Amino acid sequence: MRATIVEDEAERERLWKLADRVFAPYAAYRREAAKASRRIPIVQLTARAEVERLSPDAADDAAMMSELAAIVNEAYAVAEAGVWVEGAQRTTPDQLADTVRDGDLLVASRGGRVIGCARVRAIESATAELGLLATAPDQWGNGIGRELVRAAEDLARARGARTMELRLLDPTDPAHPAKGRLRAWYEGLGYRFARAAPVKEISSQAAAGLATQCEFLIFRKPLES
Ligand SMILES: CC(C)(COP(=O)(O)OP(=O)(O)OC[C@H]1O[C@@H](n2cnc3c(N)ncnc32)[C@H](O)[C@@H]1OP(=O)(O)O)[C@@H](O)C(=O)NCCC(=O)NCCS
Repeated sequence: MRATIVEDEAERERLWKLADRVFAPYAAYRREAAKASRRIPIVQLTARAEVERLSPDAADDAAMMSELAAIVNEAYAVAEAGVWVEGAQRTTPDQLADTVRDGDLLVASRGGRVIGCARVRAIESATAELGLLATAPDQWGNGIGRELVRAAEDLARARGARTMELRLLDPTDPAHPAKGRLRAWYEGLGYRFARAAPVKEISSQAAAGLATQCEFLIFRKPLES
């Protein structure tokens, strides 16, 4: 993490208050992590990510596909700890390459570093699906996820979709606390619960790797033109 050392205690306090306003409650975690030093991650308060659709040629960039797969797998491993059987992976470089070849992958980067991605694909004539949304865990809470969702909606709209759909894997027994927060986050972005679906109905690959009982919660959002 890039950081700035701020010697003046009052100035540090002022910056933390600003961070609290902008990123609460994530800033509380940052404050805890930085307690032992005088480092303030100022750069992260303002830096924005660039989000772009990868050109299909990028599918042949094996290093980039591996880097992206590592980000996605790490993000899901952290967010869904205990949900999957040992060794289960959310995606592979080859699966990502197929998505890129189809022109369906958006990538967020900052300062030349890839830090997140999202997939947009048509599932019905006027409905697109937002999937594979992930950002590097050391970047969480910086607004990159929101930027990816916005870019995905723009892409879907440009392709003629009038509705965006997403599927949230939801452990039912026991309930997963992080999923409640994720659900609230999506609702804040305008998504509304449509229905619950058995995991098998959505993905047989997912059904085979689950360690706990889950269902998919399907959310939709109308895409205004
Ligand atoms: C979901 C995900 C993409 C969000 O990415 P992000 O870059 O953190 O997104 P944002 O910063 O735009 O928003 C994250 C929200 O969670 C909040 N948050 C709170 N505590 C957090 C924490 N410990 N870590 C991350 N975010 C936290 C942020 O404040 C923010 O809420 P807000 O927009 O109301 O302020 C990311 O957490 C991720 O990769 N998760 C794992 C994969 C996943 O679950 N994907 C979705 C499957 S449906």
